[in-house]
Amino acid sequence: MRKLRIMVLMHQALMPPDSLEGVSDEEMMEWKTEFDVVQTLRYMGHDATPVGASDDLSKIRDAITELRPHICFNLLEEFHGVGLYDQHVVSYLELCKQHYTGCNPRGLMLSHDKYLAKKIMTYHRIPTPRFSVAVRGKRVRISGRLEYPLLVKSVVEDASLGITESSLVHDEAGLERQVAYVHDELRSDALVEEYIAGREFYVGVLGNQRLKVLPIWELKFTKAPKKPNIATAKVKWDAATQERLGVETDEANIPAELKERIESVCRRVYKALDLSGYARIDLRCNADGKVYVLEANPNPNLSFGEDFAESAEKGGVEYEELMKRIINLGLSYQAHWRTA
Ligand SMILES: Nc1ncnc2c1ncn2[C@@H]1O[C@H](COP(=O)(O)OP(=O)(O)O)[C@@H](O)[C@H]1O
Ligand SMILES: [Mg+2]
Repeated sequence: MRKLRIMVLMHQALMPPDSLEGVSDEEMMEWKTEFDVVQTLRYMGHDATPVGASDDLSKIRDAITELRPHICFNLLEEFHGVGLYDQHVVSYLELCKQHYTGCNPRGLMLSHDKYLAKKIMTYHRIPTPRFSVAVRGKRVRISGRLEYPLLVKSVVEDASLGITESSLVHDEAGLERQVAYVHDELRSDALVEEYIAGREFYVGVLGNQRLKVLPIWELKFTKAPKKPNIATAKVKWDAATQERLGVETDEANIPAELKERIESVCRRVYKALDLSGYARIDLRCNADGKVYVLEANPNPNLSFGEDFAESAEKGGVEYEELMKRIINLGLSYQAHWRTA
């Protein structure tokens, strides 16, 4: 691959140090992705410059002018502290006619709004748990078609923010309590879904037009197989909880027929939500083998050793090759300014 000037765009507070000397694991967790990506790009021979931004667009504009990057490696997930504004930053990059890695603004917008994404999936007959939305400030009126137990979550949050064991509700009182929690504490509309008991899968996808589906990954609670296997915030982020439940993710051992069905669903989700670059689709499969899409995550965590990179490696795409593919997808993405 030719040597490129790469601006690695990230949150200002996550600018990684140049070396790991004297850094604790806990400190490193914050900016491990940024560190891994910058170091790997440099190791590959690219001229990679970290650029931090959080609330000032001129920093991005100035970096583009000064560095004249061939591509912006986009690791920025919020602006003004607002997660949903990541799509606007990518729009800004497009307005600057700047190539970037990862998802386009439209794909980000469609998938970050889980209610909208589910409406689109339903239109395309992509299986997703039956759902209803409880709008903030309005009386809770949930479709009578929904059957308990239900899972209540924010329409816009990710990383399991606000998802605890109490998010699973078995009656109207529980439903009202959890909806109130999402409205008052998370300050967003609440998505109410039928709870799908069963196995949980994560599927990485790479591509713009032609898609590569990575090996299917499964979440397992090896020490608590009978517990509802909900990926709560603690399950995702708290080492002690992970240890207690024996939380593990690894390639799913599933029949070829189910694997093909999951892959096909993931491709359809990727297309339906206009995703590009790379994404991870979260799904569940019930005891009857029926597959349900929970959500799509554009620009998932790219840390070395995390699920996405691990499954890529299992699929024959090692970390450097993964970086290379993500960059090439960014360079070849046909943004409107290129075809106008
Ligand atoms: N309808 C559902 N049925 C079963 N589990 C669910 C459902 N919705 C969410 N979950 C559980 O909650 C976790 C987080 O939900 P998800 O929709 O993926 O949000 P996030 O964006 O926070 O990852 C899932 O990984 C899954 O374990
Ligand atoms: Mg998820």
